[in-house]
Amino acid sequence: MAEIAKLTLDGKEYEYPIIEGSEQEKAIDISKLRAQTGYITIDPGFKNTGSTTSAITYLDGEKGLLRYRGYSIEDLADKADFLGVAYLLIYGELPTQSQYDEFVGKIRRHTMVNEDMRKIFDGFPVNAHPMGVMSSLVSAMSGFYPESYSKSDMDNIDLHIVRLMAKLPTLATWCYKKSQGHPINYPNNNLDYCSNFLHMMFALPVEKYEVDPVVSNALNKLLILHADHEQNCSTSTVRLVGSSQANIYSSISAGISALWGPLHGGANQAVIEMLEAIRADGGGVEKYLNKAKDKNDPFRLMGFGHRVYKNFDPRARIIKKAADEVLAALGIEDPVLDIARGLEEAALSDDYFVERKLYPNVDFYSGIIYRALGIPVNMFTVMFAIGRLPGWIAQWLELRNDGQAIGRPRQIYTGETVRPFVDIENR
Ligand code: SDX
Repeated sequence: MAEIAKLTLDGKEYEYPIIEGSEQEKAIDISKLRAQTGYITIDPGFKNTGSTTSAITYLDGEKGLLRYRGYSIEDLADKADFLGVAYLLIYGELPTQSQYDEFVGKIRRHTMVNEDMRKIFDGFPVNAHPMGVMSSLVSAMSGFYPESYSKSDMDNIDLHIVRLMAKLPTLATWCYKKSQGHPINYPNNNLDYCSNFLHMMFALPVEKYEVDPVVSNALNKLLILHADHEQNCSTSTVRLVGSSQANIYSSISAGISALWGPLHGGANQAVIEMLEAIRADGGGVEKYLNKAKDKNDPFRLMGFGHRVYKNFDPRARIIKKAADEVLAALGIEDPVLDIARGLEEAALSDDYFVERKLYPNVDFYSGIIYRALGIPVNMFTVMFAIGRLPGWIAQWLELRNDGQAIGRPRQIYTGETVRPFVDIENR
């Protein structure tokens, strides 16, 4: 017999069905609550509220588990490549060789960007943050593909997905090249996805650029680790925008904007800035741990804590190991890596962090690898966006295919009650 939840309100008893997921997670279905009781629930930050069911990503915060379509993040990071993982997230299964070849082939043929996009791009000041540029350019893509909104955008959705996957890295490298005063590189479609990105980022017209396989392999792993994370802030944003049946470009553009926040994807940039500040301040971590614990101090230990992971972030473990390997392989000694290790060690033995279950998250070590790969700090969150793109697309597609209703939360009003208008001369 299906489980039910009983609620007593104003002396009346109500029953609500319990739904259970494939990993035995349970939820009380309150979809009829207001109609039956006149009450709504309220849950600022949605710490206890599910927005949807989903078959894409499963994570267990207590056990530190993360799986994309049932495959563990450890297996995928170790054995898959990013476009194969993107296909898995978006279409639900690991691709066969022919499916993979077709997907990769289509993406390769769409890596170029309409030259008129350059006119939009050229309007940005050289010091514009790349996340603001990327959000704008992705939204602008809808203008170059009007069929994405002029009729049912679902008719050509696979082509729009290929365009987004193919062009985001190209647009990202435009931001970097402009910041360096270097000419933009066109894609080289003889290269794989990650190598092509590195080529567009770092190749110069004056010398031959060879992609280091250590670097492209590290990038592949980082992109996989960022590919999806169920209903996080930016993914929930993509879903909410998509629920109005706005086109996929504007939905992804909104996701990029949400990811920019320092409490979310922007944390990877904030971590390095924090570690550099500690280094400039003599490298002592105690002072910064105390600042993080001081309620009167707005300082937070960036890269620490997570809404869901209350044990450890499995991605942080993989990235920390990869950081050691990449820096060793590239022969790089990065002093902030030692500071990061010291900070982690000190925090994990400090009651404040242990009581609040604050552990390093995906952003704590990722910046150290990005830096070793030659990627500048203000591009770190762009890297997160490139990785998270297939997850956003998969979640948007699931919402649209499920025909979900437009997202429209309720509220409890706490403002002024009704009052007569006052003419300006009497105010
Ligand atoms: C990502 O949701 C996702 O899945 C996101 C993500 C993804 O893949 O999409 O995993 C990516 O965004 C990772 C998180 C990156 N952000 C940071 O590293 C920023 C620093 N961390 C925090 O600001 C915070 O931990 C959050 C935002 C990540 C989570 O915040 P919550 O769940 O709202 O928790 P909270 O702010 O209510 O904190 C609970 C307590 C508070 O103290 P008390 O009120 O109990 O005394 O822990 C404290 C907080 O002050 N706390 C911290 C802290 N994080 C939480 N104190 C110091 N340093 C921190 N980093």
